[in-house]
Amino acid sequence: MARQPPNYELLSEEKTKEMLKLFKGERTGFVLVGPKKYFFPFRYIEQAEGFYNFKARSDDTWLLSHPRSGTTVMQELIWLLANDLNFDVAKKRLLTERFPFFEFSLFNHPEVTQEFLLFNKDDTVKQQLCREIALPGYKVIAEMPSHTPRFIKSHFPFSMLPGLLDVGCKIVYIARNPKDVVSSWYHLNRSISTQGFLGDFSTFFEYFLNNLTPWSPYWEHLKEAWNLRNSKNILFLFYEEVIHDFPKTIKKVAKFLGKTYTLSDEEINKLTNHLNIQNFRNNPMVNYSELKACKIIKDNSFIRKGGNGNSEDIFTPELNVKIEKWIEENLKDTDLRFPSFNT
Ligand code: A3P
Repeated sequence: MARQPPNYELLSEEKTKEMLKLFKGERTGFVLVGPKKYFFPFRYIEQAEGFYNFKARSDDTWLLSHPRSGTTVMQELIWLLANDLNFDVAKKRLLTERFPFFEFSLFNHPEVTQEFLLFNKDDTVKQQLCREIALPGYKVIAEMPSHTPRFIKSHFPFSMLPGLLDVGCKIVYIARNPKDVVSSWYHLNRSISTQGFLGDFSTFFEYFLNNLTPWSPYWEHLKEAWNLRNSKNILFLFYEEVIHDFPKTIKKVAKFLGKTYTLSDEEINKLTNHLNIQNFRNNPMVNYSELKACKIIKDNSFIRKGGNGNSEDIFTPELNVKIEKWIEENLKDTDLRFPSFNT
């Protein structure tokens, strides 16, 4: 029997009207899911059951995060370690195919998909991609071959995912400090048409702090994962630590994935070099060049500057005070602390 996904309520009419004017990637409305009121587009209503009842397998590896927390670099690292450093395939096949995104379909409104098809009307390959990204991961991933391990990216919080802990699959969660997340998330919301955000940073910032950006509330998302961090089969990482010391992260992730071989210094250097943001940004297999080619992303905004604290210049003194206070308040009831390094 199908499990009942978390209940939802509709965002108020007034807020919906306001947000539809600013977030042009959505055309119908928004819902708030479960007791923590996770914010999603309207299509959650029709797809929730499929996501919640997806059959995870024990040989799956899931990578979870709030958007803009270093998911993409971690996907590439996990995939390479799990596939015996098969750089040949990694250089030929898109990361989005090797490591698909579970719920991106929620962010592909049918009207927007029609617009994507129209921009790409002279290219059937690009049109095919515009159709594929709108397919729910619970269908696409379920059809992947049963004899090869699967790698799945999701930004859903634990409470919205199918029971991953029960099946024994491996789960990596990556967290990043909220100042860098909100700035990075703003830039992507402006440049990716599935979000189509038209406002300025201070407007986006208010939505983020008020838990009205996709996949928020940020703190609930993190705390759900933080509270599970000591469970078997979960590895909780901080982006700040990952980029501060790639070799250490590589060894930690390899161990977690159950790799018994020892990586040589040469292999670790090769991986570190491959993941270095300068190279990563120019790697068409990981930098979402396919979305850029279809005019779904406007610029190179998926892989940007990276780093820790690089977003400072976007915060006015007022916004800075506000977010610092928000961070302080939300850290009161938890022992979660972000590592600070100058990277
Ligand atoms: P910035 O926008 O702050 O530059 P996600 O993959 O979860 O969407 O996270 C995106 C953030 O990770 C972006 O942050 C991006 O630049 C950064 N990033 C992507 N690849 C990286 C890499 N190889 N090394 C360090 N940071 C990276």
